[in-house]
Amino acid sequence: MGNETDRRGFMKICGKTALTVAVAGAAARAATAPAFALENAPRVRLVTADGKPLKASALPMHANWIFHYPYHSTPALLIRVEDPARPTEVEDKDGKSYTWPGGTGPDKSIVAFAAICAHALSTDNRETSFINYRKVRNQMTGHGRVITCCAHASVYDPAAGARVLAGPAKFPLAAVLLEHDPKTDELFATGLMGSELYGEFFKAYRRDLRKEFGRRKYKTFVKGDTIAMPISDYSEDAIEC
Ligand code: FES
Repeated sequence: MGNETDRRGFMKICGKTALTVAVAGAAARAATAPAFALENAPRVRLVTADGKPLKASALPMHANWIFHYPYHSTPALLIRVEDPARPTEVEDKDGKSYTWPGGTGPDKSIVAFAAICAHALSTDNRETSFINYRKVRNQMTGHGRVITCCAHASVYDPAAGARVLAGPAKFPLAAVLLEHDPKTDELFATGLMGSELYGEFFKAYRRDLRKEFGRRKYKTFVKGDTIAMPISDYSEDAIEC
């Protein structure tokens, strides 16, 4: 058991869910099936800016890092919360339940979500980051240890599948599924769960994305490695609210 990856643990959860569903019937199946957003999403390793593998145990507590996944141009937040993040039942934009698998890493506290707000697609880029995690209470809503989108004050709980705590957003951020290799301490992004908004994101930001990432490359999958870095290194202005 010690060598089993977190993904296997997650698949066990899915297996249990599937068993429950089989018993409960078709209506329950629709309500609890895993909400994989992109079944063909790549498996990529997270590395630091110098190309070395990002070690899970080296990620600081309350880290707020950025990496691009599953596309070259789509940012995701990598966060280390204080306590183990347990599997959580949340609902997608259509009101269907799914089980977010919880945190990964040595103490199950590393989580990742798409940095594309579920309200109106505010995001993080080289110039400005509207959506980010902070330990301290934000001034707009009084919540601490949360992901806040400072555009209109949507607040998401990173320790509970990014469920909405406050603001106009109606459903959680899409979850990036992570895998931890306990032998090497490396982290991998392996898929997406929940309500992905990439089609709308590409439409809204096409001109900027083409300019920054390349005319076609911006909407191609990342392969191999993807660089993860503190949001303060990535963005000139990580907005705090
Ligand atoms: S776009 Fe994020 S709260 Fe409106």
